[in-house]
Amino acid sequence: SRTAAVIPAAGRGVRLGPGAPKALRALNGTPMLIHAVRAMAASRAVSLVVVVAPPDGAAEVKSLLASHALPERTDFLVVTGGDTRQESVKLGLDALPPGIDIVLVHDAARPLVPVDTVDGVIEAVRAGAPAVVPALPLADTVKQVEPRAKGEPEPVVATPERARLRAVQTPQGFDRDTLVRAHETVALSGEGATDDAGMVEQLGEPVVVVPGHEEAFKVTRPLDLVLAEAVLARRRA
Ligand code: CTP
Ligand code: MG
Repeated sequence: SRTAAVIPAAGRGVRLGPGAPKALRALNGTPMLIHAVRAMAASRAVSLVVVVAPPDGAAEVKSLLASHALPERTDFLVVTGGDTRQESVKLGLDALPPGIDIVLVHDAARPLVPVDTVDGVIEAVRAGAPAVVPALPLADTVKQVEPRAKGEPEPVVATPERARLRAVQTPQGFDRDTLVRAHETVALSGEGATDDAGMVEQLGEPVVVVPGHEEAFKVTRPLDLVLAEAVLARRRA
């Protein structure tokens, strides 16, 4: 079987604050996207990485890929993304060549996922699961609320049992045909699905969880940049 990784990297990074698109911002001197590409290419199973670039960013992404050391065994493709993560993933899937039968979808915003987590996801797909999600137990208790206007107290509706909840990460791994079918069938909703496995669930196909990793956290807000740079510094120490 051949495995490709699609990396949606077309978001602006609004929650990170003003500046370049999030995937192009540096972590200890290297663009977040390059860290994420290396994290996927570190798996010997991954033969192709498809980067979904920000609008107007495809040329810059191509030159970044050309100017950073990457494994020789891996092929790279760059396509331009869409207005939502879901659209960007779909555009990445559309670029996959024949012969790929396992697809990972990995956020550029999770630049530090360890290769063992990547390989664990691929192994579970190879073992027969059509959709595999790395995830961790939650540290915080979670409340479901009735949303109110900003600043208004929000009534609590329910407290799901924390032991049964998981915070999901990427790379999420899929049987290619299943993921393509999900993206063709599941209706585009609002700002788009935040999770590819959720679209497979809507097809009625089984989704399984394997262990995620603390270092696969998503860089979303400025504090996450501090954590990511500390993790990189610890790796080099
Ligand atoms: N993404 C994408 N295309 C979009 C929106 C998001 O490819 N139209 C990608 C982002 O680049 C990121 C991943 O999806 O790698 C996860 O999204 P998120 O963390 O929400 O990143 P942004 O959308 O860039 O951030 P924000 O929501 O704060 O603007
Ligand atoms: Mg977003």
